[in-house]
Amino acid sequence: MRDFVVKDITLAKEGRNRIEWARRQMPVLQLLRARYKAEEPLAGVKITACLHVTVETANLILTLRDGGAQIALTGSNPLSTQDDVAAALAADGVHVYAFRGENEQEYYACLDDALAHGPEIILDDGADTIARVHERAITGIIGACEETTTGVIRLRALSAAGKLKFPVIAVNDAETKMMFDNRYGTGQSTLHGIMNATNFLFAGKTVVVVGYGWCGRGVAMRARGLGSKVVVVEANPRKALEAHMDGYYVLPMKEAAKVGDLFITVTGDISAIRREHFELMKDGALIANAGHFNVEIDIPDLEALAVARNEAKAEVMEYLMEDGRRLYLLAEGRLVNLAAAFGHPPEVMDMSFANQALCVRYIVEQQGQLRNEVYTVPKELDEQVARLKLDALGIEVEELTAEQRKYLSSWDLGT
Ligand code: ADE
Repeated sequence: MRDFVVKDITLAKEGRNRIEWARRQMPVLQLLRARYKAEEPLAGVKITACLHVTVETANLILTLRDGGAQIALTGSNPLSTQDDVAAALAADGVHVYAFRGENEQEYYACLDDALAHGPEIILDDGADTIARVHERAITGIIGACEETTTGVIRLRALSAAGKLKFPVIAVNDAETKMMFDNRYGTGQSTLHGIMNATNFLFAGKTVVVVGYGWCGRGVAMRARGLGSKVVVVEANPRKALEAHMDGYYVLPMKEAAKVGDLFITVTGDISAIRREHFELMKDGALIANAGHFNVEIDIPDLEALAVARNEAKAEVMEYLMEDGRRLYLLAEGRLVNLAAAFGHPPEVMDMSFANQALCVRYIVEQQGQLRNEVYTVPKELDEQVARLKLDALGIEVEELTAEQRKYLSSWDLGT
């Protein structure tokens, strides 16, 4: 078994410095780390994590390790690994298998290396590891956590088919994850990635946001904040109505395609932008994805329509259409916020990864009690993360009186 696979171990010092920088912006995780170090609730537990290898993830991994866990880490996307972070973790004895720019074969070889450590718990982001374990009938797993919307959708489908082999906690669905990481994290980091790749001016432009879940809400909000006219494309009627009342234009993709200067997909679904839409786009349109997989923009359709392809600059591929229009695909249609920027800021990942750390402990403590289903994060844990974050921010919340609490749990007091 390979001990670790990273691009360049000499990057470790830079990685350590950046991990330490992020640590200071992750107070809830720091607090849990100190607690886990003292209590060792994960003593001897084997974990395979498939996450974006970033400074924030490194702080989660070190928290779990201080809690006694033995960890193997692989990247959850071929373009999201920060090579200095992978080097720092490897130099500090973590089994890391990840480097930026993996091809599909290398991606799965890394994943298999991480699985060869014989995990009892899996931390997944996108459900590739959990899917692999099911395909290969790997046993010995007591539970898993899933970090992202796309992964949760896949796992709910696996569960609905009656094939899920162990309990999974949908960390993504915790309120302290979704409302902050998905909304403010994706909102900011997606625009950061697009600006890094292109220096695009948002003011005065028409930005089409495809998908209005928590991520889409965040992206739309931030694009509007920078002065763009925002169009939302959404198939769910409740969410489309919400986008309308939030003050955005709501259009079907075939209409939005004609007016957008920039398109951003955040749907969790396949082919949200495809041939019939590329055919309608304006010359110079930029197309980016912030959803987990590179399937939301139909790249094979774009390739088939193009008469020529040229790398305009790093992270920007130009596609020349037969009629002379040029369309620009960012970061190969992969998560633009991680491929062309740093991913979400540590302040929001603090809450997401505090949920992860708490849920891993919960799985260990509940071993044998949970069914093979997709669970939401227990309310007490979600609320604990919110309270710890408020404490860290020095924000005091209102305490209800005994009378108010009683009123809220009674039915007899009316008009
Ligand atoms: N997903 C989005 N941003 C991330 C980050 N900074 N670290 C890990 N996973 C992420």
